[in-house]
Amino acid sequence: MNLTDRVVVITGGAGGIGAALARRFAAEGAAAVVLADLDAHATAAVAESVGPVARGVAVDAADEGQVRDLVADTERRYGRIDLFCANAGVATGSGIDAPDADWDRAWRVNVLAHVYAARAVLPGMLARGGGHLMHTCSAAGVLTAVGDAPYTATKHAAVGLAEWLAITYRDQGIRVSALCPQGVDTPMLADGLATGHLAARVIAASGPVLTGDQVADAAVAGLAEERFLILPHPEVAGYALRRAEDPDGWQAGLRKLVRRLRAAGPPPA
Ligand SMILES: NC(=O)c1ccc[n+]([C@@H]2O[C@H](COP(=O)([O-])OP(=O)(O)OC[C@H]3O[C@@H](n4cnc5c(N)ncnc54)[C@H](O)[C@@H]3O)[C@@H](O)[C@H]2O)c1
Repeated sequence: MNLTDRVVVITGGAGGIGAALARRFAAEGAAAVVLADLDAHATAAVAESVGPVARGVAVDAADEGQVRDLVADTERRYGRIDLFCANAGVATGSGIDAPDADWDRAWRVNVLAHVYAARAVLPGMLARGGGHLMHTCSAAGVLTAVGDAPYTATKHAAVGLAEWLAITYRDQGIRVSALCPQGVDTPMLADGLATGHLAARVIAASGPVLTGDQVADAAVAGLAEERFLILPHPEVAGYALRRAEDPDGWQAGLRKLVRRLRAAGPPPA
């Protein structure tokens, strides 16, 4: 897919990767870019900064009724949705003892929101004979996020769901991509780095921390090639290969990195 004249929806569009995608899609000549996020004012402000093709709306991506309304309203205004980016996501920074409320929120935003998006957008795409879903998952969904159990489990589920959708609908003209970055300089990671959280430090030690714009560049290239797995950090493919070929060796390497970071202690404030 190229973005010229496309109608695009991006959840989690009020900041970070979502806002960078919106800027890049507008620059590529998209006909409309609808940004959906929790905070109406923040979303409208980002839409304004993107330009006249962008529109900001307050939507909870984990609420199926709101997602259905978002899709129906966009199709009414612009006639279709060519690309739906299920990008909203949450980290917890917690291990297995994360409160059930955190597990539930991660499950609802990182996984169920992707189900709701697909349910809402597929009927129109199938009727028109084509469309593209891009789910922002994470390298955590093909590897692991040390220090964040709910994030790891739900991002793995998100990749599994995206793969299922890709296989099931490809022959009906639907393309599905899983965008799986490692570290990206957005509030999600910056907050963790600022507090010296182990999860953020492992990410920063595992590869370069990219800008949202670099992730948007990779997304546009991956969409153009209709690739399923879009890896803004190419080294993630090597890590995933090593994990598949030698899971015990891969885990041992990661545990060694964690021991080294723990021994070094958190960076000075
Ligand atoms: N930053 C990273 O290092 C990194 C790495 C890999 C994957 N990701 C993924 O990229 C995506 C975007 O994250 P980001 O890094 O831009 O972080 P971010 O925190 O800047 O942006 C996430 C956005 O999602 C929105 N959001 C959260 N819950 C929502 C809901 N229920 N409905 C609508 N919007 C909601 C937030 O308001 C926020 O604007 C997420 O899915 C995240 O898991 C981030």
